[in-house]
Amino acid sequence: MSDCTIGVFDSGLGGLTAMEALSELCPNRDIVYFGDTGHMPYGGRSREQLLYMARKNVEFMESLGCKLILAACGTVTSVALDTVAKETDTPLFGVAEPAIAKAKELTRNNKIGFIATQACIDSGFNQALLKEAIPGAEILDRACPKFVPLIEQGICSLSDERLYEAIDEYLRDIKAAGADCLILGCTHYPIIAKAIGEYMGEGVNLISSGGEAAAALAGMISSEEHSRPGKRTYYTSGDANTFRCTAEQLLGKSLSGPVIGIEPYELI
Ligand code: DGL
Repeated sequence: MSDCTIGVFDSGLGGLTAMEALSELCPNRDIVYFGDTGHMPYGGRSREQLLYMARKNVEFMESLGCKLILAACGTVTSVALDTVAKETDTPLFGVAEPAIAKAKELTRNNKIGFIATQACIDSGFNQALLKEAIPGAEILDRACPKFVPLIEQGICSLSDERLYEAIDEYLRDIKAAGADCLILGCTHYPIIAKAIGEYMGEGVNLISSGGEAAAALAGMISSEEHSRPGKRTYYTSGDANTFRCTAEQLLGKSLSGPVIGIEPYELI
């Protein structure tokens, strides 16, 4: 691995939305992904557990030689990242600010929908950043706890009743309020962006927190690390075959590297 290998982690498959964007923007970088599927979902966990898991994930990525780490997880970003960043010399990046900057750029009516996991919404982290970035904005926030389990099962189409009902339950009020931007604050949600877009209708900007973070990060680093194509390696604390199959089904393309299964660490 090169000195500048980038690490990207999430609770499962969601962070691949950031990983794939980063891969395209930095084709010559070595990038390692860790999906902590063994402890997924993160969104209903306590701050104490999220801090522990964030530390473990960062340590794991550092042990693989990563010199820069993207927490491609809205939950970890909002609950744990500021604390963990003070404990390591490795630069850590999250997925909050770039999406908020995009909403500021795109909104015309200052009505911003923000959807994410329960822990992320409860932290108030993004809402505070939004208020600071867009004074006077009406923030329509909502936790969507049913989305991640549905996505991890590969249920992504609006024609599937289970997904339709969940989308209608969570997004009805945001749609009725006339938000012109909807931040997908959990990195899993861009996987169902098509279904969300169909439900919300034209004229609503869907903003991918992982995609925007990848773009911001790529803008800060040189993509000319190697003359050869960068290596991609995927780790999961779940079953490697299931990870590959579901990831490839959801992304609609092959993963461009090996998937390695590791034992999940013990939780506190
Ligand atoms: N994709 C993660 C996030 O952005 C975690 C979702 C979960 O595991 O609940 O919050």
